[in-house]
This record gives sequence, C-alpha cells and structure tokens, in this order.
Amino acid sequence: MTPEEKILILDFGSQYTQLIARRIRELKVYSEIHAYGYSIDKIKSEKPKGIILSGGPLSVYDKNAPEINSELFELDIPVLGICFGLQLIAKNLGGKVEPADNREYGKAKFEVTYKSKLFKNVDENSIVWMSHGDLVSQIPEGFIITGKSENSPVCSISNETKKIYGVQFHPEVAHTKEGVKILRNFVFDICGCSRTWTPQNFIATAEAEIKNKVGSKSAICALSGGVDSSVAAVLVNKALGDRLICVHVDSGLMRKNESADIIKMFKENFHLRLIHINASELFLSRLKNVTDPEQKRKIIGSTFIEVFEKEAKKFPDVEYLVQGTLYPDVIESVSVKGASATIKTHHNVGGLPEKMNLKLIEPFRELFKDEVRAIGKELQLADDFIGRHPFPGPGLAVRVLGEVNEDRLNILREADEIYINEIKSAGIYNEIWQAFAVLLPVQTVGVMGDFRTYENVIALRAVTSTDGMTADWYRFDHAILENISNKIIRSVKGVNRVVYDISSKPPSTIEWE
Ligand code: XMP
Repeated sequence: MTPEEKILILDFGSQYTQLIARRIRELKVYSEIHAYGYSIDKIKSEKPKGIILSGGPLSVYDKNAPEINSELFELDIPVLGICFGLQLIAKNLGGKVEPADNREYGKAKFEVTYKSKLFKNVDENSIVWMSHGDLVSQIPEGFIITGKSENSPVCSISNETKKIYGVQFHPEVAHTKEGVKILRNFVFDICGCSRTWTPQNFIATAEAEIKNKVGSKSAICALSGGVDSSVAAVLVNKALGDRLICVHVDSGLMRKNESADIIKMFKENFHLRLIHINASELFLSRLKNVTDPEQKRKIIGSTFIEVFEKEAKKFPDVEYLVQGTLYPDVIESVSVKGASATIKTHHNVGGLPEKMNLKLIEPFRELFKDEVRAIGKELQLADDFIGRHPFPGPGLAVRVLGEVNEDRLNILREADEIYINEIKSAGIYNEIWQAFAVLLPVQTVGVMGDFRTYENVIALRAVTSTDGMTADWYRFDHAILENISNKIIRSVKGVNRVVYDISSKPPSTIEWE
C-alpha cells in the first residue's frame, strides 16, 4: 500500500540509506527507497513530494560511480543531496568535486553561513556527522554556499529558487545535533508534505486494499505467534473476517505454554478463525537421532510445509497466503553483494506460495519493524506481545543442542521460563534484543548436599542488536545473573551448571545452531 504523498530516496549505496527513510517516516511522512537507476518516467508518474539523494561509498569521478539523469533536476520536485548526493548535484549541474586533503570522518563543527530555508531554526553552530573523502571545490551556477566546516569550506549549498539543496554531512545520523530539524524543514517547509503516515491511516488504506484485492475469495495464514505474522493476521482479519483462515502448527518445539497462550489470545481477543494442529509427535519422531543443525532445520521446514499444505487443501476457496514480510527484506539495494555462503538455512513459510499456487498478501512489504509494532498497538495487540523478542522458526530445536527429545525440551523450557521472567522482573527485557536459554549436549560434575551430581549445562544468551545482523552480548548486572543461575540450578531438575555466553556476532551467531 502506497500513500499518495511520499518522499523518494534514491540509494547510492550508503550504509545510512535505510536510516534516512526511517527518519522521514518518524516525521509521519511516507518515504520509499529505490536504487539510483530508478527511471525518470517512474518518478514523473509517481509524483513524489521530494527526492533525497543518499550518500554512497564511491567518488563521483570513480570509473564505476553511480550516475543520475540530470533531468531529475528539471522536474520541479525539491531535491536534497546528502554527502555523495551533494557531490552528484555539484557535478551534474556544472560544479566541481575534488579529493579532499584530509578525509573527514566522524563529528565535525558546522557553521550556517546563509539562512537557507533548509536551516530554519537550526543553530548557527552545531555538531554534524561526516564521512567523506571528496569535496565540492566549485559550486554550480545559481547556487550559494550555505554552510562550512573546518575541513569543508563548501559544506552545504542551495538553489532556493529551484529548491535544490545539498549537505556534505549526514542529517539522518543521530550524532548530527540538528539533523532532524533539517530533515523536517526539507519535508514540511520545502516539499510541503503533511503528516499523513500514521498507523490509523495505514490500517484504513490497507484494509480497503486487501478487500479490493481478495474480492470474494479466501486467504490463509500460518500463525506462529511471531510479531509480524500476528499483526498481519489481525489486520487481514479486519478486512476479510471469516474468509481469513489462520493455521497454527504446534511443532512441539515452542516455549512453555506458548501454543496454548497464542490460541487463547487470538481466539478470545480477536475472534480469528483459527485452526490448531498439534503436530508435535510428527516433528519429534522425524527429529529422532538427528543432531546436525542443518538437517534439523531442513526436517522442520519440510514437515511444516507438509502439515500446513494438508490443512490448506481442505479449503478450496483459498487463493491467497498472508505473509509478514518486512521492508528491509525487499529494498532493492545497490551494494554489490558477493555470493555469500549459507550460514544457516532460515526456516520461514517460503516455498509455500509456489508449491500451493497461492498469491501473496504482504501488507508490511513497505514497513520497518517498529512501524509494524505501532500498527499492532493500534490494532489492540498487548504491549508485551508486540515487544516480544524474536523467536526462530525451528524453535527450541536449535536451542537443544544435539538430539531433540521431549525430556530435553522440557528441561530447556523450565530454564528458559525462569531466565525470561527474571529479566522481565529486573525491568531490562526491552533493553535486550533477544534472550534465551540453550541446553548443551554435555554433562558436568557438581555437588548437591553431600552427593555428587553429573548433569546438564544451561547456557544463557542475551544480545543487543538493531536488526539481528550484528549483535553484542548484553552486559548484565552480576547480581541478576547470580539470581538467575541460582534459581535455575535450584529448581530445574537435571541441571547443575549455568554459563553465560559472551560472544558477539560476528564471529559467533545469535542462535547456537
Ligand atoms: P543468527 O543465529 O543467524 O540469528 O545470528 C539471527 C536472527 O535470526 C533468528 N533466526 C531465525 N529466524 N527462522 C527465523 O525466522 C530461522 O530459521 C532462524 N534462525 C535464526 C535468530 O533468532 C536471530 O533473531
């Protein structure tokens, strides 16, 4: 679903491009990222209210440097160039860009030298975030210099009549003190956007679009209890009512009471048409004697598809599959991606649409995770549900290292419940991206009372992260860790040792398998 008013962001490969989009959306204005080659015809037909040219790793004079069509500056649409974007403006409109004597990286002092519309209410002197090796040495005709920094005499430029602006620094980065103000000036004062990107508006438009698309047919969705698919299910249910069939496959690999809680919540609070399939026995029998992580993942993925497909066939009217795909998964990226090795085969419901010949409904294809959470909140999903840590598709099977069986799953469930409850009662759950317990496939010697024990080890994992791609281990207060360890060893039968994982990602991964 695309709102009428939008800011188009052309991506030249900066690591901050997604951040620009998020900052604009935080201002309640819809923004969309496209690779720099996005055609002028498309831009013309979409009529964005403004265009932002992102930064990028190359120099405008590099042989393979991305280029743009200069017609972009003749569309009567305001343009803001950031870093590489500024240099492109300069180069394309007749200015000059040269390598700087000193690469500027990190914080720099910026001084506004001309009160451009872009700098309305912006402090004359402030700190900005820089990351560049080239400088604009000559500005194009019709432009003026609007700001400078110690190493960049031309740190910002503008052509106020044509509404073309450029800044050498990154306003989207939090270290740029006045960054949000600058983006706000661009979006509202210069582009004339209004604040229409709100959860309420999104829900109303999405609901109408889904109704329109599905007509009198039906849709199906796999409801695992994850945040994205749950919010998607509630939204689509609002549009289709009973014509949305939700299937919850209990693989027997969920956390303690999880399946029952999910069923109860969705049936009682949202009146979803929800089918509960308890397939634990099937999953566990197929996982018997399997210890290889990749093999576990493959078995779980294919068993899931088999169970889901069998159920779906009972509803011949179903033509659509609802998925909670998010924006970061679909953004066309300009960064050159090498063929990367498979680290882990992620299990999700991928493969289902083709196999079952289903069309997709992906209401969140243009949304970031925090926006989905805001929509979930608006749809009355409980805060503690929306704020839940991510949980992997293969569930506890990748947290019971070695062979997975009911006894070992139960040990892990008990330990994990204590761990998570303690984190919640310490008030730090929301500081942590993901926390979970892992049952190791080794036994160690301990002493309880006067007796020797030879029992299992629980490893605790807690990480901070913004997207799960990189992660750092969480620095717990030692007293909290001590308390968790004591409680687990005291009350979980079969565990006599608790360890804490202090590895970051990379080189480790978040899950152990
Ligand atoms: P790793 O272990 O690769 O995990 O550092 C990164 C994030 O992805 C989650 N994860 C999965 N999510 N299906 C999922 O939907 C999977 O198969 C899967 N494996 C890992 C993991 O929990 C972490 O948030």
